[in-house]
Amino acid sequence: MKPFVKKIFTRRWAVIALTSGLVTAALSLLAGAGGLDLLDPPVRQPVSFDHKKHMETDLTCLNCHGGANKEASTGIPPVRRCIRCHEAEEIENPATEALCVFAEENGDIPWVRVYRVDAHTYFSHRRHVALAKIDCAVCHGDMAIQTRPVTRQAIPITMDGGISCHRKQGVTEDCLSCHR
Ligand code: HEC
Ligand code: HEC
Ligand code: HEC
Ligand code: HEC
Repeated sequence: MKPFVKKIFTRRWAVIALTSGLVTAALSLLAGAGGLDLLDPPVRQPVSFDHKKHMETDLTCLNCHGGANKEASTGIPPVRRCIRCHEAEEIENPATEALCVFAEENGDIPWVRVYRVDAHTYFSHRRHVALAKIDCAVCHGDMAIQTRPVTRQAIPITMDGGISCHRKQGVTEDCLSCHR
């Protein structure tokens, strides 16, 4: 290779190396500074459920998530509970048809769970809702105004959040109270 060609080559490689380095740095900056979307995209839900419309009827949160008062887990209602209302003549809606198809074909709607803790962490809705009387919105944001299905945690579930709340309320911070 002639020295002059060689010089162009090295310079070109230097430019490429520099730009790719800059791009990587920019990407990691983005990922660190709230650009989490890149790494953790929101989930997609199978039906465009609208909490607001349902809260405008005389339903309460516990009508659909009744476990919250009695059990560790609240659950999401099975489609046969939805059909009970949606089959009624007054609520003619294309969504009703979609619900019926799910009920017949899949047996249920495959909702993607958004709020969950790892198996080593224990959380009881009953203790927080029925005993401590904490409003759902403290942990889930104002669900009564949501017109779209839940695709991400409004308030992220973290250990720091759990411990700082327990500290404020004067509740145990013992590791084994939250981990088993
Ligand atoms: C107490 C009766 C009732 C129950 C139970 C019920 N719904 Fe509804 N649903 C309604 C009403 C009322 C509307 C509003 C209809 C309208 O605006 O035309 C609605 C609307 C909808 C819509 C359409 C929203 C839109 O954007 O138009 C979907 C989808 C839906 N419901 C799904 C469900 C699912 C899934 C369940 C079960 C988890 C369920 N519903 C349970 C009464 C009910
Ligand atoms: C102190 C915080 C807190 C409060 C208050 C709370 N939740 Fe939760 N919720 C959580 C956590 C943490 C999870 C994940 C639990 C798990 O993975 O077992 C969760 C999960 C859920 C889920 C997912 C499905 C399931 O079976 O767990 C639903 C639905 C839910 N909560 C509804 C409610 C409703 C309705 C209320 C009020 C009646 C409520 N939550 C009050 C923290 C809370
Ligand atoms: C008509 C039944 C119905 C009512 C009433 C209802 N929900 Fe839901 N909820 C659902 C369905 C269906 C889903 C799954 C679809 C979605 O994410 O919107 C859900 C999802 C959720 C989730 C996310 C669960 C997860 O981890 O994916 C939370 C939190 C929740 N509801 C809280 C509430 C609260 C708080 C109220 C009262 C303000 C309420 N819901 C009222 C049916 C209902
Ligand atoms: C008030 C409840 C609470 C207490 C007390 C608590 N943790 Fe956690 N811990 C959590 C939650 C919530 C998470 C994260 C959510 C999950 O499980 O997905 C977590 C996560 C963790 C993890 C997994 C790594 C991570 O960051 O997700 C470890 C390890 C852990 N905790 C250790 C401990 C130890 C050791 C103690 C005692 C010094 C302790 N925890 C006390 C609630 C608690």
